[in-house]
Amino acid sequence: MLSWDWIFIFTISLNIWSAQVSSTIVYIGAYTGDGPTDSKGVYALELDETKPTLTLLRLSAVTSNPSYVLVHPSHKYLYAVSEQDNGAVVAFQIDSTVPGRLIPINQQTSAGSGPCYLSTNKAGTHVFVANYNNGTVAVLPIDQTSGGVGQYTGFDQQTGSSIDPDRQTSAHAHCILLDRTEQFALSADLGSDQIYQYKFFSNNGTLLRKTVTKAARLGDGPRHLIFNSNQNFVYLINELKSTITVFTYFPIMQPVQIISTLPQNFTGSNTAAEIIFHPKTENFLYASNRGHNSVAVFTVDSTTGYLTLIQHINVQGLTPRNFNISPSGKFLIVANQDSNNIVLFTVDQTTGKLTATGSSVPISKPTCVKYLEQ
Ligand SMILES: *[C@@H]1O[C@H](CO)[C@@H](O)[C@H](O)[C@H]1NC(C)=O
Ligand SMILES: *[C@@H]1O[C@H](CO)[C@@H](O)[C@H](O)[C@H]1NC(C)=O
Ligand SMILES: *[C@@H]1O[C@H](CO)[C@@H](O)[C@H](O)[C@H]1NC(C)=O
Repeated sequence: MLSWDWIFIFTISLNIWSAQVSSTIVYIGAYTGDGPTDSKGVYALELDETKPTLTLLRLSAVTSNPSYVLVHPSHKYLYAVSEQDNGAVVAFQIDSTVPGRLIPINQQTSAGSGPCYLSTNKAGTHVFVANYNNGTVAVLPIDQTSGGVGQYTGFDQQTGSSIDPDRQTSAHAHCILLDRTEQFALSADLGSDQIYQYKFFSNNGTLLRKTVTKAARLGDGPRHLIFNSNQNFVYLINELKSTITVFTYFPIMQPVQIISTLPQNFTGSNTAAEIIFHPKTENFLYASNRGHNSVAVFTVDSTTGYLTLIQHINVQGLTPRNFNISPSGKFLIVANQDSNNIVLFTVDQTTGKLTATGSSVPISKPTCVKYLEQ
């Protein structure tokens, strides 16, 4: 029979263990301003998965318009865009002693105006940036000792236009990311209704344009895209038409399904924003609606690639520009840009469906959600 001493030690170690695994740091990117209630930079929240609650930890670092942030694969550095006319990529060290604190390293030009998206390769040697205003994409090397960014080594100017008189008079690169082989990068251009494919040379950090694929329909406004893990499909969210196009990827990109992110009976104005897979199972895919103010949940047929809508959940705010699922797969956090709140939902890992927890944190104009361990 166990003595009480042993039970006591056992209980203590369980508590320590659960304290370590149940709390996650979440970085929030935002638009900043000079007013007293405006955001001042990147913020850190704590997600306690046992309660579950979301609380503000601290202002991580003061920086201008960090509308998109990226955690380095080593979890030692964080990169933020500075979304302004003279765009920049800003590098920070993640403070290992003060939870949530970021220490500035350096910054470099993003090679364009209005940078809005960042990604990296698995080795963390390069950061990719898309500049919305200019329609340019660039690759910056990461110094493996300091984590700082170097002057860009890869660059491309996208061109063209499409039918929307307000949003599509010139190229507007909205994302750039490597495919799973890391041989090629894809970039969605909202302004010209095109997807650019580049060969990426990791030896010298350059990009070589290979193919340009048309969006499924004129006026789609391609925004973000993701690959499934065996990379036979690309899922592209179209901001202007509030649709997702499922494309085959190899050997050529061809649309196989177009599905709305909105309920059939919704007639208001809407722009679609973020798209992600569930991090634990690619059976579920999530997309956000700015206007309908919801997250749409889809199941994924892994053979055909097809999506089936199973839920719309209200985001308890306005303009869900971005959202992300916790590394555990159990929680989804939404950044509502126009209601200035960050809202916590639970994810049912069997059905994929979302439920509100009632926990939220006020942050002015939040635009990006990233977990420290992802
Ligand atoms: C981006 O646009 C600005 C004007 O808004 C211009 O000054 C700059 O040269 C452009 N940069 C690139 C890389 O095209
Ligand atoms: C980068 O490396 C590739 C592969 O070795 C080479 O083909 C290309 O010319 C290089 N580009 C530059 C600008 O050095
Ligand atoms: C749309 O349909 C849903 C479900 O049938 C219903 O709950 C909702 O009220 C309807 N919305 C509008 C705007 O008609």
